[in-house]
Amino acid sequence: MSLAALCRSIYNLYYMSIAIFTSKEQSILQCAQALQKGQLVVFPTETVYGLGADATNTVAIQQIFNVKGRPSDNPLIVHIASMEQLPQVAQSVPEHAKKLAQAFWPGPLTLVLPKTHTISTAASADLETVAVRIPNHPIALQLLRLANIPVAAPSANKSGRPSPTTVAHVLQDFINEPLIFGILDGGPCSIGIESTVVDVTGVIPYILRPGIISKEQLESVLQTNVEYGTFQHQQNTTPNTPRSPGMKYRHYAPRATIHIISSEKEIPNNAENKWILALSMESAQHVDVIISEQNIYDVFRRADKEGIQTLWIIETPPLRQRVGLWDRITKAAKK
Ligand code: TXA
Ligand code: MG
Repeated sequence: MSLAALCRSIYNLYYMSIAIFTSKEQSILQCAQALQKGQLVVFPTETVYGLGADATNTVAIQQIFNVKGRPSDNPLIVHIASMEQLPQVAQSVPEHAKKLAQAFWPGPLTLVLPKTHTISTAASADLETVAVRIPNHPIALQLLRLANIPVAAPSANKSGRPSPTTVAHVLQDFINEPLIFGILDGGPCSIGIESTVVDVTGVIPYILRPGIISKEQLESVLQTNVEYGTFQHQQNTTPNTPRSPGMKYRHYAPRATIHIISSEKEIPNNAENKWILALSMESAQHVDVIISEQNIYDVFRRADKEGIQTLWIIETPPLRQRVGLWDRITKAAKK
């Protein structure tokens, strides 16, 4: 670490305005009460850390958009603690949704459902649908139970930056953010990429964002074909409308330029400040970082910190088959 970076870290530690809470019952209760009062709380889930606010409180939701710098047409995922809360959020629960909820909740699956009026239109970006998830993390579940309100929570990063999978990542983006009440520390997230988003409002279920739960797993539960969807089947929009509102924005990106290559021979001899990334050591003679769902966002953030200018990612069939991970890599590579 350079001297400047060390001084910055010490300064940040000393002047840090954001509170970090442990998983003690009392701390979780304090955070739940903050949510009820319309404040913002960062909490861990099994996928990534979320920046939560009361999904029924428009002022609180607008603060999420402000703090993240998120475009207002990109709707948020609403988190609940149990199936009993679902009628508060969703007007109806189609058959496909019931089956998927039973198989994968609590877990890394988000279902797009018809929305009730209780949910702020700011959270759903004026859509008639709402994305809902029961996360599988003890701290998240306890927080949601104690708050007893639906909690809208996008990933707790500045818009366009890699999602946070540790408290340190959250601090990198929000260390001096006065609008955040605090961060609940749950350690590193076990899955590391965001949930699979499935639209179950129509006859055909559509995957709007791939994640760790695969198309094949969804099909095996539903006993029907699942497709990779376009957002336009939901709304009467133009043919170029992206899969999900969030899909049109550049995402998950480090500052480094990402090159996807099929062989290390494509890397120029004079390339400096570079890392070679691959799914396994066998992918190339020289690999700097072995990537996975768990570490991809950390690798992107570390590359930024260390001033890496180019990331060379070796494309192999096994990497392409990790659909969620591959999706994040190709999105990050888009300039
Ligand atoms: O794992 C996750 O899903 C994490 C944790 C915190 O739960 N959350 C998360 O939220 O990734 P966010 O806001 O970063 O991503 C939400 C995605 C966006 O692509 C958004 O466009 C899509 O879900 N989405 C939300 N509501 C939708 C809706 N009604 N219809 C279609 N897509 C929707
Ligand atoms: Mg996000």
